Amino acid sequence: MRIINRDSYQKHVKEAAEYIGKYLSDRPKLSIVLGSGLGGVSSSLSDPLTIQYKDIPHFPVSTAPGHKGELVFGKIGAVQTLLMSGRLHPYEGFSMQEIVFPIRVMQLLGVQMLFVTNASGGLNPDFEPGTPMLITDHINFMGNNPLVGPNFDAWGPRFPDMSEVYDLELRKMAVDAARELGIKLQEGVYVGVTGPNFETPAELRMLRRMGADAVGMSTVPEVICAVHAGLRVLGISAITDRAVAEGLEPLTAEQVLEIAEKTGHKIASIFLKITEKV
Ligand code: HPA
Repeated sequence: MRIINRDSYQKHVKEAAEYIGKYLSDRPKLSIVLGSGLGGVSSSLSDPLTIQYKDIPHFPVSTAPGHKGELVFGKIGAVQTLLMSGRLHPYEGFSMQEIVFPIRVMQLLGVQMLFVTNASGGLNPDFEPGTPMLITDHINFMGNNPLVGPNFDAWGPRFPDMSEVYDLELRKMAVDAARELGIKLQEGVYVGVTGPNFETPAELRMLRRMGADAVGMSTVPEVICAVHAGLRVLGISAITDRAVAEGLEPLTAEQVLEIAEKTGHKIASIFLKITEKV
């Protein structure tokens, strides 16, 4: 694994944050990471200001389908928000440090809360594609961790606690919001794998027995980094397909994107409702 030189990494994060900071009238309190096909969430932002990843010094540029590669700064309700439209995945060849680079930038910009979304396969046979799942916990099955390497103590502890990764209070707010909106919100454990292939039936059986309800190729690195950085985290997955070994149908990325897009507005309205209360 490539471990980026600590001093230059810190310097690069600082330079990226300074570049973005110049454009921001206010400091963002909330950051939202949009998953595959979930770009529609950005329409909830008022007075949007867009910054392309490619224009930000040292910022890695995403290549995945359904990921735009831009930061959008604006307000959701009364909350100053920095939205990441286009995330980075291990399967694109990015190192873990590159994947969490934007999270470190958010940390330096003073962001306090991170909402993450993703498209994922429903391992739980009760989950219907097209429904959102509140992430209660995760399993890091990527064989790697963004905190490996020298620890920079100013950014967080060497051995961070992970007993409550997904903030309980924010989770309760999400459950209440979904109930008020009449949206069915399932709850479950997300397992992060590297991909890029979708899973074999044997792998799906293993992941289910490990205790996971949904499987996807993202989220876990950013969330580990955010917890290390002291951010409060909320995660909602769009269940895009049945990832159940028995009767498994072939799956394409196009199907995933199509169903994620259809689920995105439900997730956006839950976020919008929560921002009225934070
Ligand atoms: N497996 C892994 N990642 C995914 C899936 C899946 O079934 N669906 C959407 N992302």
